Amino acid sequence: MTVAEQGTVTAASAAAELVEPSANLGRRPATDEVVVLDYGGQYSQLIARRVRECGVFSELLPHHVGVEEVSRRSPKALILSGGPASVYAAGAPRLDSGLLELDIPVLGICYGMQLLAAELGGRVEAAEVGEFGRSQLTVHQGGRLLAGLPSQQTCWMSHRDTVFAAPPGFTALASSTGSPVAALEHPERGIYGIQFHPEVVHTPYGQDVLRRFLFDVCSCDGSWSPASIVEDQIERIRAQVGDGSVICGLSGGVDSSVAALLVHRAVGDQLTCVFVDHGLMRKNEGEQVIHAFRDTFKVPLVAVDAEERFLARLRGISEPETKRRIIGEEFIRVFEEEASRLGAAAGGTGDRFDGAGVRRGDGDGRSNREAFEARFLVQGTLYSDVIESGGGTGAATIKSHHNVGGLPADLRFELVEPLRSLFKDEVRAVGAELGLPERLVWRQPFPGPGLAIRVVGGEATRERLDLLRDADHILQEEIRRAGLYRELWQSFCVLPDIRTVGVQGDERTYGQVIAIRAVTSDDAMTADWARLPYDLLETVASRMINELREVNRVVLDITSKPPGTIEWE
Ligand code: XMP
Repeated sequence: MTVAEQGTVTAASAAAELVEPSANLGRRPATDEVVVLDYGGQYSQLIARRVRECGVFSELLPHHVGVEEVSRRSPKALILSGGPASVYAAGAPRLDSGLLELDIPVLGICYGMQLLAAELGGRVEAAEVGEFGRSQLTVHQGGRLLAGLPSQQTCWMSHRDTVFAAPPGFTALASSTGSPVAALEHPERGIYGIQFHPEVVHTPYGQDVLRRFLFDVCSCDGSWSPASIVEDQIERIRAQVGDGSVICGLSGGVDSSVAALLVHRAVGDQLTCVFVDHGLMRKNEGEQVIHAFRDTFKVPLVAVDAEERFLARLRGISEPETKRRIIGEEFIRVFEEEASRLGAAAGGTGDRFDGAGVRRGDGDGRSNREAFEARFLVQGTLYSDVIESGGGTGAATIKSHHNVGGLPADLRFELVEPLRSLFKDEVRAVGAELGLPERLVWRQPFPGPGLAIRVVGGEATRERLDLLRDADHILQEEIRRAGLYRELWQSFCVLPDIRTVGVQGDERTYGQVIAIRAVTSDDAMTADWARLPYDLLETVASRMINELREVNRVVLDITSKPPGTIEWE
């Protein structure tokens, strides 16, 4: 697919892409695979992740892919996910009974178990009272699936319909506070079901149940690891790219960094990276990226210092969406210009790098697209992006470049997406395997429009950005010192456009407020405010007030998401 097509990707075509043969996925053919069929459950992605954590490659496919597609993959096991529907409701996703004839062990989770029970003659009905959240599970008989697990344990439930009687021939293994049958099995037929969610952390023995299923029931070999995709991907990239030129926009984030390194391993200097420094990064982050790629990994890199351009365009703008749009547009313009220049260089007429490899963006908008020879564009698309695109959301398949806006339709590249099969934490593992510095591997997510959107309600001037950058630097230093950086999904500062009265050294001050935002999260869809230790908060606040003259007040945001968002804007 070319970038030109990205605007036209529909939910249907995205879903189709999701079930395409795993052409882009980094699975070694010899590795066992577990297919998870998605019935629309909140935790479906998490099931695939948990299976992979057991060392078994797993893919999530829409529930309607069909028996043939599942069979073609020859999976070692099939897992049916949870889902919001009621098995008897009109239009509810159904179980294709052919799936049970494939001679592949099947595990139904929540709705998946209810589908199995209903299909095979059990009794599934709406209970008077639903069972949501923590519940007590009583294992009456371990059977194969729950063998050796404690007879009393906590589990996480999320259902109203309930299995009241297991189908004929099945053994009911467990019950819970609200479920007469909370686990069932028919080992001879290779069919298993659990009403609770083993994939969430609130089910302490959940991973044990998955292991029982994967290893004891299905005899999976457990040898897959994210790092095992490296060699495979290098081969695939070489086959795709041949001797063509490749371009990659580096953002400083872990996804584009790992994608670029993989491509560089595969095709060496056929790759050129472009790093656009829009002046909205955190302190020293631009230098770290340039240093790592140019000096350590010797990747051809064009670093564009475009701060002036971005700040000029942001002058007078305080509305957050307008800031985002401007930054997105400007980014594309700079990237396009660099692509054209590289093309000119390839044709022998341009200046590819200056001495330091840094170019001052001059904004002349010169375009020489025809001359540009790179045919391939690297994107750090992750598996969660692929899944979300196919999940019927209608979102485009391709993550917008640099996370700030799509590339224009007339830039024609073929995409190279070496991370399409990986979840974020797996990308980090690959990054570590490739020798990416720890700081880059573990970098917390950072929005494409950068600090500009964290100057809230006011203009993102250089002075404000510098103040925010310095405050943020103090926060990061102290969080790292406290050993908490990796535990947090994100931690950052916000500079609202207000001033408050204070008193310092017997003098009245009228200074800036810095807000601290730190959240824990798995996927940014929901987030909780992080309970940072008081001592840490005190150190951060007093450092900010002592070291930053303009700041006289520091506050902490204690809003979770929902109802808040992670960023303020
Ligand atoms: P919110 O604020 O909506 O953010 O809760 C959810 C996550 O998305 C990040 N974010 C962005 N990431 N480009 C990105 O790549 C963006 O333009 C952007 N805006 C927000 C945010 O930091 C959080 O992790």
